[in-house]
Amino acid sequence: MDVSSGDSSWLLRLRGRFLVFDGPDGSGKSTALKRFGALARAAGLTVTEARDPGGTPVGERIREILLDPIHAEMTVRTEMLLYMASRAQLVDEMIRPALARGELVLGDRFVSSTLAYQGAAGGMPEADILHAAEVACAGTWPDLTVILDVDEAAAARRLGMLLDRMEAKGAAFHRKVRAGYLAQTRRWPERHLVVDASKDVEGVWSDLIGGVERWATRPKP
Ligand code: TMP
Repeated sequence: MDVSSGDSSWLLRLRGRFLVFDGPDGSGKSTALKRFGALARAAGLTVTEARDPGGTPVGERIREILLDPIHAEMTVRTEMLLYMASRAQLVDEMIRPALARGELVLGDRFVSSTLAYQGAAGGMPEADILHAAEVACAGTWPDLTVILDVDEAAAARRLGMLLDRMEAKGAAFHRKVRAGYLAQTRRWPERHLVVDASKDVEGVWSDLIGGVERWATRPKP
């Protein structure tokens, strides 16, 4: 049951907050995000879901270029800048206005993905990514990033047969992606929540809800 404790009032603390759900392909983050959005709406919040890359007409066009397997020659620098371009549009058109209206914004991926995929796995220097992200996000950063952690073998089993350009990069690449996420959670622990996504659906869900509740109700320093 979603509101198992019966008291979902803590969810109202998430008004005007920006939460990102991220993790390797096949981690189940999008399903978890949808379920979290439904729970927050049931508690009375207005929720905006922001899918990255994509989420806006311009962003969806950029997403098509990024994920089309035909673009095998795309360099990692181009890739990084296209993700950032899609994100800049998403921030300006959707995320910042929604936060200003006091809505809860749920991001399906964000800068954490670029640090993991183009940084840890793709080899781009972290400083370059963070520099580009400062331009793309213009000061709009997630309050909390939930990382759904799963190893590449379990994740691969959850993916379908038809892989997009990023999903098709192979096990070694995806092992580095996962390590890239975990490195971020160690480096900025107060802004991250790691959830073991290898558990069954209900196990993942209760860890996620418990973790976000603890974060939302933590004593302020
Ligand atoms: P999605 O299918 O979860 O929407 O993500 C699209 C793919 O793009 C996924 O394989 C992860 C990848 N990606 C990056 O490589 N860098 C990024 O910055 C983002 C947001 C996604």
